Amino acid sequence: MTILKKEKLHIETWGCQMNVADSEQAASLLSDKYELCEEASEADLIILNTCHIREKAYHKVTSRLGVLANFKKKNPDLVIAVAGCSAQAEGKKLLKNKNVDLLVGPGRIKEISTLVETVKGSNQKISALGFPKQEVTEEENELDKISYPTLSEERNEISRFVTIQQGCDNYCTFCIVPFTRGREISMSPLAVYNQAKAFVEAGAKEITLLGQNVNSYGLDLVKADKLKASKEGPFADLLRLVASLPGLKSLRFTTSNPHDFTKPLADLFQEHPLLGKYLHLPVQSGSNRVLELMKRKVTREEFLERVTWLKEACPEITLSTDLIVGFPGESEEDFEETLSLVAQVRFSFAYAFKYSPRTHTPAARYKTQVPEDVKTDRLRRLNELLDQITVEENEKELGKTRKVLFLYKSKKDGGVYCGRSEQFKLVKVPAGRDITGEQLEVKITKATKTALEGILV
Ligand code: SAH
Ligand code: F3S
Repeated sequence: MTILKKEKLHIETWGCQMNVADSEQAASLLSDKYELCEEASEADLIILNTCHIREKAYHKVTSRLGVLANFKKKNPDLVIAVAGCSAQAEGKKLLKNKNVDLLVGPGRIKEISTLVETVKGSNQKISALGFPKQEVTEEENELDKISYPTLSEERNEISRFVTIQQGCDNYCTFCIVPFTRGREISMSPLAVYNQAKAFVEAGAKEITLLGQNVNSYGLDLVKADKLKASKEGPFADLLRLVASLPGLKSLRFTTSNPHDFTKPLADLFQEHPLLGKYLHLPVQSGSNRVLELMKRKVTREEFLERVTWLKEACPEITLSTDLIVGFPGESEEDFEETLSLVAQVRFSFAYAFKYSPRTHTPAARYKTQVPEDVKTDRLRRLNELLDQITVEENEKELGKTRKVLFLYKSKKDGGVYCGRSEQFKLVKVPAGRDITGEQLEVKITKATKTALEGILV
C-alpha cells in the first residue's frame, strides 16, 4: 500500500470573520492533498487571504509578498495564492507582482482546489475573480466537508462559522465591501441547517452565522419567490431553525446592521437561551449628521431604540460595536457625540478605526477630508474612553456566576481552560480535566481589560 505524502499548506488570514470562514473552507477543500503547516518557509502552497477594508490592509499584503519571495528562491515550485478582498479589488496590480501565481476572489473560493491544480500544471498565472451567478434552490444540499482544520486556538471544532449570506447591498459611503464581495446572496435555509447540523454532529457546540448584513438574510429569496417567511422575517425563522439542532449549546450571529434589526429579532434574545446575552451592533458614529453622510440609514435615536429593545428583552445583554473617527466632514462636535453615545450605551468593547478613503467609494471623493493628526487624536481619545468602560464593565462581573462554554486549553498556562461567557467575555479557569466543549457555571474572581478569571462552581 502506498501512502500519499501530503504537501504543506500555509494560510495567513487577515480581516473579518467572513475571511476566517473562507480560509477554513479553503483548507478543508484542499485537505485531500495538503496538510496545514505553521511556518510559511516550509510550505508548498501559501494562501494569503487578504482584507481591503482600510488602506493599511492592502499595504500589508504587498509587504508580505516581498518577504515570501525569499521562499520562492529556495523552493521554485512554491505556489503563492492571494485570496480575499484585496485580490478582488487590486487584481490587476497584484497580477503584475512576480511572486503571485494565483488570484482568487471571495466569490470564487469554492474553486480553490481546481485552481491550484491548474496553476501547478502550467507556468501561467491564473486569476479567478468576480461573482459567478449562484442559483439557490430549496433542494440545495451541497455540504462543505466537515473535516475542517483548526486554524487558531479559538477557531476549532467546538465553535464553527456557517456563512449564510455573501456580499452586501448597503453601499455605506465609506465601505469597499459591496465592491469586493458583490451583491447580497442568501444561502437556502436548508443548506445552512445541513451545514450547521454536520458541524454539530462532528462535535461543534457553538455555531456563528456569518454575513455582512445578517438581519436582511433571506429577503432576496423571498423576493424571488424561493422562500416563504413568517411575519418575523426570514432571519428570525432561520435562527429558530438552527437553534432547534439537538446538541447545540450556543448560537451567535454577525454582523448585524442596525438598519434592519427589528423588534422581533430583539425579542428572540428573551425566548432563546442558545442566543446568549451578547450582540455586535456596528453604529459607526454618534452624530446624525455623520450617519447621514455615511448613508447608514439609521439615526442615533433609532440606534438607541434598538438598544432599548434588546435590554428589555434581555436585561443582562452586552453589546459591542464598530466606530469610525475622522469621517469626511466630522467636526469636533460630531466626534463628541460619538463619545457621548459610547458613554451612554457602555459597549463591552468596540473596534474603533480611523476613516480610510477607499477607491470607488463616494466618501473618498468628499472634499472635507479630516487631517491625519486630527484622526489620530480622536482615535486615541475614543480608545481611552472605550478601554475605561471595558475595564469598569469587566469589574462588574466580579463575584457573579456566569455560564461559560469552554473552547480551548490555553497553550501558555498549563491546566487553564478558556471559553466565552454568554456575554461573550473571555473567561479563564483552571481545571483538573479536559472541559473543552462543556458549558459550565463559573464564579468570576478576577477581571482585567482583556479577560475574566474564575473557578468552576
Ligand atoms: N457589515 C458591517 C461592516 C463590515 S466592515 C456593518 O454592519 O456595518 C467592518 C468595519 O470596518 C465597519 O463596521 C467599519 O467600522 C470599518 N470600516 C469599513 N470601511 C472603513 C473605512 N473606509 N475606513 C475605516 N473603517 C472602515
Ligand atoms: Fe459595508 Fe455598510 Fe455593507 S459597512 S459591509 S456597506 S452594511
